[in-house]
Amino acid sequence: MKENLIKQDIFYVGAIDAERRIFDELIPLPDGTTYNSYIIKGSEKTVLIDSVDPTRKNVLFDNLNKANIEKIDYIISQHGEQDHSGSIPFLLEAYPMVKVITNTKCKSELMDLLLIDEGRFIVVEDGQEISIGSKTLRFIFTPWVHWPETMVTYVPEDKILFSCDFFGSHLTMDKPYPDNPEDIYIPAKRYFAEIMSPFRSVIRKNLEKIAGLDIEIIAPSHGPLHKGKDFIFGCYKDWASENVKNEVLIAYVSMHGSTEKITDYFIKALSKRKVEVKAFNLADADIGEIAMALVDAATAVIGSPTVLAGTHPKAIFAAFLVKALRPKTKFLSVIGSYGWGGKMVEQLADMLGSVGAEILEPVLVKGFPKEEDFKMLDSLADKILQKHKEIGLV
Ligand code: FEO
Repeated sequence: MKENLIKQDIFYVGAIDAERRIFDELIPLPDGTTYNSYIIKGSEKTVLIDSVDPTRKNVLFDNLNKANIEKIDYIISQHGEQDHSGSIPFLLEAYPMVKVITNTKCKSELMDLLLIDEGRFIVVEDGQEISIGSKTLRFIFTPWVHWPETMVTYVPEDKILFSCDFFGSHLTMDKPYPDNPEDIYIPAKRYFAEIMSPFRSVIRKNLEKIAGLDIEIIAPSHGPLHKGKDFIFGCYKDWASENVKNEVLIAYVSMHGSTEKITDYFIKALSKRKVEVKAFNLADADIGEIAMALVDAATAVIGSPTVLAGTHPKAIFAAFLVKALRPKTKFLSVIGSYGWGGKMVEQLADMLGSVGAEILEPVLVKGFPKEEDFKMLDSLADKILQKHKEIGLV
């Protein structure tokens, strides 16, 4: 177990799932993922921090055997989602005396989701500490990283923060730490964008709440660990801020080439004006990349043809994604084509209204784009540049 030793008497016992390619049947996993689980051996009690996805429970049990863990006193359940809690019922069977330490909300979730008996829990409050002899566990509630019950655990003797989904990344590596912190920038940003960006105001409060901790190691529940907090805290402060960049996200789909031609022209028009463009063809787009682009883009544009008098279903999906992620995007618009009319703009405006961004005059083209349509696209590009200037991005 030497390679899994994180600190004196703290071991990694989690599982790597390099082949997994989708999470929640929604989120792409280009680099697989890991379900991190840790053993802490205090002089009086032995503790397991989180379990693993139930599909990998045998790996967890193998690792516990290899580490000669014959007795576990407490399982700390920091988050009810099954990729961390799903093997707890099997642990409760294997270790009949073990108790699950968690908060009231998580206890309720674990009883509902995993049918765990109420008698197996010890409930803790925010800031409460439990001694396991030579080490102390301090529980800090950090709601919405990722569910409302999520909490983190700090061990002051080792200056280690077990952060659960907070600061995690879907990334498999053959070592606990990246060679350079920058190596995990994209996976960590993707992870933030997919599951935490809608809750960024709470994330900012959580960052403040733990900012004063003396941290040598952050041990999340997915992906590599972090040495120190400066790099990943800096990333999170940027991503969770309300700051946007001089960037336009374009998510489009085309059936017969008209919307593609419109989009190609529009990308060039924005680029000529030195506005950065991140364009995604919805025919095969990775929604994690769209989510990442939404962390920065000042403007988002949906491009769609008209289908059955309305928006193409793939563009509807993109609009739904934008709405669900509640991005900091300040301006929205629509480009696309139609044959004989339809309700595309009304449909998208209705869906995106709750985002709270200013809607810029859409450009809808009848059939294939012509000279006057390109002028309208130039006007929309001018308008976007002007709006970006008005908010100080240029
Ligand atoms: Fe990794 Fe929200 O569970």
